[in-house]
Amino acid sequence: MTPSTRKCWSARVGAETVAIDTFVYPDEEALAEAACALALGKIQEAIGERNRAIVVLAGGNTPRATYRLLARGIVKKRIPAERLLWLFGDERWVLVDDPQSNEGMARESLLHPIAAPASTVLSWEAGHGDPVGCAQRYGEKAADAMLGQNADLVFLGMGSDGHTASLFPDATMHFSSGRSVAVGPEVPGFAVAVHSLTAKGWRLTLCPDVLNAARTVVFLVAGAEKSQALRRARGGDPATPAAWIRGERTVFMATRDALGKENADFGRDVRHG
Ligand code: 6PG
Repeated sequence: MTPSTRKCWSARVGAETVAIDTFVYPDEEALAEAACALALGKIQEAIGERNRAIVVLAGGNTPRATYRLLARGIVKKRIPAERLLWLFGDERWVLVDDPQSNEGMARESLLHPIAAPASTVLSWEAGHGDPVGCAQRYGEKAADAMLGQNADLVFLGMGSDGHTASLFPDATMHFSSGRSVAVGPEVPGFAVAVHSLTAKGWRLTLCPDVLNAARTVVFLVAGAEKSQALRRARGGDPATPAAWIRGERTVFMATRDALGKENADFGRDVRHG
């Protein structure tokens, strides 16, 4: 499904100007089809180049339809499941069989249907022990598995407050060193436990550095309640966590209602691709 609107525009992030594509779709079904097609392309490209693809999965509800289609595409195209490495961009402090579990959602909609080998799925193992130690272990485990390679594809959602992964504007990041700092784009690290009143407690999340090192970052954004946050995220608003994340290529895939009138002018800074 070709997007009803495509604009390529640039935004300033710090001193750097980065190109951002924004695709708009009539509904979530069309968005999921396009996100699936993009993901399959990026996965095959990475496997062609380096014999594997590293994919970071988003949580929440919006990605579920994309994951279902992606599972079918991977099976149909006979992409070897052992050539994929799956990480989770963030997780709630719940066990995997909890309906709130991001990993649980991804396993049901994608990883089980493709029979992903256990060794290719990096679980946060959330919900037991302590979140700070859990995040530390995840960082070590993921860094080992990635072998110094960056992610090929990062899926991210976005909340109406502009949070992405579990980088909530009101969160504090807690490190195993005992250090805790307000969430921010410059906070170094691989994975961290965050505490957020908005999120009602503990969360686990990959840090901006890891997400920003990705080849392609894809934001999946649906729902009219997100249009103001989408404008801030695209515009590089420093107070909006989704504005902190920019891959080598960054793509916002939004439904028309998420675009709303707040983004009606997004064509003005057009760089004709
Ligand atoms: C989570 C997510 C979070 C999510 C947004 C959007 O654990 O909740 O990782 O960042 O992507 O909250 O969620 P929806 O897609 O459900 O609107």
